[in-house]
Amino acid sequence: MDTNRRSFILRSIFCMALAVLASSVVFARGPNGLADVTILATGGTIAGTGATSTTTVGYTAATVGVSRLIEAVPELKKVANVKGEQVFQIASENMNNDYWLKLAKRVNELLAQNDVDGVVITHGTDTIEETAYFLNLVVKSRKPVVIVGAMRPSTAISADGPINLYNAVTLAASADAVGKGVLVVLNDQINGARDVTKTNTANADTFRSWELGFLGYMQDNKPFFYRTSTRKHTADTEFDVSKLDALPAVDIVYGYANMNRIAIDAFVAAGDKAIIHAGVGDGSLARPAVEPALIDARKKGVIVVRSSRVGNGIVARNGEAKDDELDFIVSDTLSPQKARILAMLALTKTNDTKEIQRMFYTY
Ligand code: SIN
Repeated sequence: MDTNRRSFILRSIFCMALAVLASSVVFARGPNGLADVTILATGGTIAGTGATSTTTVGYTAATVGVSRLIEAVPELKKVANVKGEQVFQIASENMNNDYWLKLAKRVNELLAQNDVDGVVITHGTDTIEETAYFLNLVVKSRKPVVIVGAMRPSTAISADGPINLYNAVTLAASADAVGKGVLVVLNDQINGARDVTKTNTANADTFRSWELGFLGYMQDNKPFFYRTSTRKHTADTEFDVSKLDALPAVDIVYGYANMNRIAIDAFVAAGDKAIIHAGVGDGSLARPAVEPALIDARKKGVIVVRSSRVGNGIVARNGEAKDDELDFIVSDTLSPQKARILAMLALTKTNDTKEIQRMFYTY
């Protein structure tokens, strides 16, 4: 065997040993051989109750506490040592930056402990994708973080909460989920935080990662992964919220035919640090109403991000606007609501538009 080949084989064995060691360090199991998983409850329909067993709309979200959620799924005991914590109790349309900071800090505290192998977060489905992406950028650990919700309240016939929670805990207890970023699990599908979005107002099969695809299935009590997120996340990001108690003001304006500049001017006057424009098509800006308003905003120091309301595809830099000349940023493939999150975090690090654009191509 020649020297190059021998050194290649030795290096491969060394790397494999390191990977096994790293996953066992990240994933120290409890004394009974099961992983230690903490469930952080935040509310949502998964914790919702309706007037009757057939009430699947018009119910009240966020009424059932974490202990009852856990008691309702005794099978959890077979897959992990589960502890529950009620972080807050809200319908997720009321999610805000303060709740995100509180949640992220708690997740980071827990994951830093040797007796926590993974975290599950129960959450309303309406903004689950936003919380997932926020955590994907600020959690400082490779341990599994799984966010789960339900489309039917806990009192409904065929409530989807219990099976979704069971799958989430199973996934958070799995070494296969280590280093995969924040994962969203519903309806037996595993989605990556960056690309997942809610697509149906009421159907249990509502989450899609559209053209980029979901990552895998939950089946037969285990995860099956077929792809991973290629964008940096969790332990590999440059964002740190541990010392933050607020995030910069960033809002979204929605593009449509006959759009005017009123909302843009109002956000600038209110002191926004960035505006996300959810443009038509390839992030196009209406002229003469919208583009001059955004140019004026930029001249006042407001960061302008061109995103798209379409739902798929890359917003091309210097495509539908002269971004270099106007000093605008494009959102790449991020939805407007996720571009808002990245813009807020980017602004905690820099105001340099080249740097912020780099972040949009990195995360
Ligand atoms: C919510 O997002 O809190 C309500 C809707 C849901 O969880 O499905």
